[in-house]
Amino acid sequence: MARRGLFITFEGTEGSGKTTQAELLGEWLSSRDPVAVREPGGTELGEQIRDVLLYKGLEIDPEAEMYLFMASRRQLIAEAIAPALAAGQIVIADRYHDSTLAYQGGARGLPTVWPPTFPRPEITFLLEGPVETGLSRHEQAGKAKDRMEKEAIEFHRKVAEAYDKLAAAEPNRFVRLDATGSRDKIHLEVRDHLNPILEKIK
Ligand code: TYD
Repeated sequence: MARRGLFITFEGTEGSGKTTQAELLGEWLSSRDPVAVREPGGTELGEQIRDVLLYKGLEIDPEAEMYLFMASRRQLIAEAIAPALAAGQIVIADRYHDSTLAYQGGARGLPTVWPPTFPRPEITFLLEGPVETGLSRHEQAGKAKDRMEKEAIEFHRKVAEAYDKLAAAEPNRFVRLDATGSRDKIHLEVRDHLNPILEKIK
């Protein structure tokens, strides 16, 4: 029987620690050769779109912004995600289409859809914590603010609310994690959730 792929995504607001968790998971699963991707970016086209979206200081219409994020995602699906899943590999994505549903849909108030050609993740880990803590974590790290991080706190609260609704609507796919816990504790929770699933696709 062909090996079955597994599509795992990490979502959350700014500074919630999802990138760290996606990396820790990749290390833990390294013997299974997982494919790790990050959004926006991850392909040549995607990196250029990321630059346009986040750092060029352009004024971008909200709907145009949404399509740029989605164009970057589609390229990543075509180049990396779909081939890996078809080959039975595990894919770990640091942000995916739920980011568009939360940021452009929830916070910017746009109508959103899930394109039928975008694979659905089997599991989405949602890191939840106070929005203020996340933003200040980012500031302390001394990183330059991108266009989204410059948005007011209210915007980020709306993102968090939208994630909350998405998770409530799909309790079988979403796994909520308390982002205020230590990075090791959260990683162990991730492992606990995945162990029974990984058993099945050995
Ligand atoms: P990034 O530096 O990847 O942020 P983070 O470390 O928080 O993942 O920048 C991505 C920014 O773009 C982040 O603020 C979230 C936002 N974003 C959207 O608004 N829509 C999307 O579809 C995606 C993928 C990201």
